[in-house]
Amino acid sequence: MYRTKTNGELRLANVGEVVTLAGWVQRTRKMGGMTFIDLRDRYGITQIVFNNEVDASLCDKANHVGREWVLQVRGTVAERESKNANMPTGDIEIIAAELNVLSRSEVPPFTIEDNTDGGDDLRMKYRYLDLRRAAVRRNLELRHQMAILIRNFLDSKDFIEVETPILIGSTPEGARDFVVPSRMNPGQFYALPQSPQTLKQLLMVAGFDRYFQIAKCFRDEDLRADRQPEFTQIDCEMSFVEQDDVLEIFEDMARHLFKRVRGVDLPSPLRRMTWHDAMRLYGSDKPDLRFGMTFVELMDTLKGSGTFPVFDNAAYIGGICVPGCADYSRKQLDQLTEWVKRPQIGASGLVYIKYNSDGTVKSSIDKFYTPEVLQAVKQATGASDGDLVLILCGDNANKTRVQLSTLRLEMGDRLGLRDKNRFECLWIVDFPLFEWSDEEQRLMATHHPFTLPNPEDIPLLDEHPERVRAVAYDFVCNGVEVGGGSLRIHDGELQAKMFKILGFTPERAMAQFGFLINAFKYGAPPHAGLAFGFDRFVSIMAGLDSIRDCIAFPKNNSGRDVMLDAPSEIDDSQLDELNLIIKK
Ligand code: AMO
Repeated sequence: MYRTKTNGELRLANVGEVVTLAGWVQRTRKMGGMTFIDLRDRYGITQIVFNNEVDASLCDKANHVGREWVLQVRGTVAERESKNANMPTGDIEIIAAELNVLSRSEVPPFTIEDNTDGGDDLRMKYRYLDLRRAAVRRNLELRHQMAILIRNFLDSKDFIEVETPILIGSTPEGARDFVVPSRMNPGQFYALPQSPQTLKQLLMVAGFDRYFQIAKCFRDEDLRADRQPEFTQIDCEMSFVEQDDVLEIFEDMARHLFKRVRGVDLPSPLRRMTWHDAMRLYGSDKPDLRFGMTFVELMDTLKGSGTFPVFDNAAYIGGICVPGCADYSRKQLDQLTEWVKRPQIGASGLVYIKYNSDGTVKSSIDKFYTPEVLQAVKQATGASDGDLVLILCGDNANKTRVQLSTLRLEMGDRLGLRDKNRFECLWIVDFPLFEWSDEEQRLMATHHPFTLPNPEDIPLLDEHPERVRAVAYDFVCNGVEVGGGSLRIHDGELQAKMFKILGFTPERAMAQFGFLINAFKYGAPPHAGLAFGFDRFVSIMAGLDSIRDCIAFPKNNSGRDVMLDAPSEIDDSQLDELNLIIKK
């Protein structure tokens, strides 16, 4: 045995014991004739003491070790004179009798501390060193704890975990596929699963009734703080259930996790909001309910005055009331205007009305509107004296709402209303079945092509597909889409119709999804499911800004693993074997 105890477990009760510890050197300090080494492992840090007067050669050895060297130390546990209340082992220290250097270390490229001096790129290149930092390690420990809780919860509800293949064909979830060339089938490619969607549906046809998998998914899409090209889903599917059954079981799971991990009681049942209301009130299908500032449509109040063409020509005028911000200076408002006009947001301008604490009103539109109209806006938005009303307009209602949503979140951030220790979860329901894609110039499935249309809306499928609601739901927490799912089509004819509306010829639908269409000919049960984004779930629980921080070896924003230097070129011989030629 290299050690008899870990660096996190010794307390006053152990005083007098002879122990052997092993770990990494966090830091060394020399004070008078004494040398102190803080020895670290996954479990904690223990202080080791070397006394020059007692054993000069051992002390000399200790003076020559550097940061991150790996040591084995034998010694006796003693009570410390000056205790450190900030460390669980802060009451004791080890009086060293023996020191073995197990491994030396070069000077690490950044400090292995919670507040490291290492920038993002450097930390990712040396991720194995970054992972030694307690702050990062704790995120992975939380991830492990959540995985265990989830497995046990789902097991207790009769879900069984089934692994599905990684080398499959295309599974459309709205992103591009990552593909893998097949050596044995020249010119042919596997696609990596964007999710195990169709496979879990086949498991329902196979009669498995309740399936789950902590599944790796792969999507070639633009990356953001909450998106990685490979990520993990808690993927679930159930047979013979309605929407309420699914929502109930998975909000129970969420409730269990929040309680066990954060000690938080989520309300029961969770709030449900239609997609339509979410867009109308928050301009987002993942509203952050930790604060108000809901949208107020001001078309009736401000359009058609004949004095302000910008509003007269708008398809949408909406405002938010920002509490207590009437004292925003001209400069602050100009900066905010520039901010909403940035291409990432794309608003054409920003109108403000300051309802000052002294009862006066100051606005960027006061020369176009009477004081009565500005009072009407005050009433409509519920503003009080001291509040600031911010208004956006545009010729496309949904786009303007999305811009106003970005502004709302920004103001929530500025006012400190997005507290990471508060959790506001809800279900968004009644999504539209299709959405128009400007890029593809066609209707696309909002969720995926296997989602059941709301039976009430099926008659609209042919004439007005854009008005059809889906039986689909998202689990949203603090403005993040943590999970999503739907009831599925289990009728081959309806599925064929969906493919047709989505622009598939029967031949193409058969070529791509023949396996599913055929499976439905052999008795498909009504089924439904959902997938939580595991990385997102963990990062919300941990209060992280990016899901990268809870992934052991993440990719950077260009999809690169800078530690492994992947992706990379491959040898000509490998290309030959795969029948591939790279276009120069
Ligand atoms: P969806 O595409 O909504 O549904 O994905 C489910 C959840 O997965 C997470 N997620 C991601 N997390 C990190 N990086 C990404 N690139 C990424 N993309 C998605 C989100 C999202 O809510 N098969 C369906 C589920 C179903 O219908 O059962 C699906 O994949 O948290």
